[in-house]
Amino acid sequence: MAKIIAGVATSHVPAIGAAIDLGKSGEAYWQPLFKGYERSKKWMAETKPDVAILVYNDHASAFSLEIIPTFALGCAAEFPIADEGWGPRKVPVVKGHPELAWHIAQSVILDEFDITIVNKMPVDHGLTVPLSLLCGQPAEWPFPVIPLLVNVIQYPPPTGHRCYALGQALRRAVETFDKDLRVVVFGTGGMSHQLQSERAGLINSKFDNRFLDGMAQDPEALTKIQHFEYVREAGSEGIELVMWLIMRGALDRDAREVYRFYHVPASNTAVGHMILENKH
Ligand code: DHB
Ligand code: FE
Repeated sequence: MAKIIAGVATSHVPAIGAAIDLGKSGEAYWQPLFKGYERSKKWMAETKPDVAILVYNDHASAFSLEIIPTFALGCAAEFPIADEGWGPRKVPVVKGHPELAWHIAQSVILDEFDITIVNKMPVDHGLTVPLSLLCGQPAEWPFPVIPLLVNVIQYPPPTGHRCYALGQALRRAVETFDKDLRVVVFGTGGMSHQLQSERAGLINSKFDNRFLDGMAQDPEALTKIQHFEYVREAGSEGIELVMWLIMRGALDRDAREVYRFYHVPASNTAVGHMILENKH
């Protein structure tokens, strides 16, 4: 039986990917940020999952305003790296896990989460920056990755409550797969940031730290946060945080916090990161 062993939450700021790719991670501006992920890289290298399910949002790279799936699952064998305007990042192609992905699609759809199935899709910074932060710069990514996309770009995104319930369904799906796989779930995006309009550059460390506390101690309370509260407190792009709740819903209620990191600024955003392990 496959098993979810841990969850990783992390921001996915594209400038972090650029800093890595351009060899700037040792610069004074970036050094504190990358230092914060050293322990996480070690944890990931030791944990050696067989597969990752990476919950993220596409930023108009694979989808546009023409087609907007609320939830979508990447079932392909391979996902090429998207060109976001400066050519694709020079990181390894992302290998999928079609067998587990199709099983998850079947399980969550029969469980009444009508997820969109995607068989061809480039992946952008939303997926590659978290992989770089946790895995460094390997020649090949150390595990296959099943992308799980969430629309947080065009209103209306799903509620945090619905995301948490999808995480619970995801867990039921993984636990009914008949191969012994150790699975890590990533919840990405966040924390507080607003990239546009009058409040561009908004950072709300108080809200961010309360959210991190909630992830560790009281995730159900976080499922009650409404869209307008995310936007008011965490900025328009802070809504990305609903994706963390899919990861959290896939873990034990009493999952153990093994690491936390919070840093401001990266580009014009706050960076949050947490690792949680299932005890059982
Ligand atoms: C930026 C873009 C993002 O998608 C994000 O989540 C944070 C920051 C940016 O362009 O700086
Ligand atoms: Fe983003």
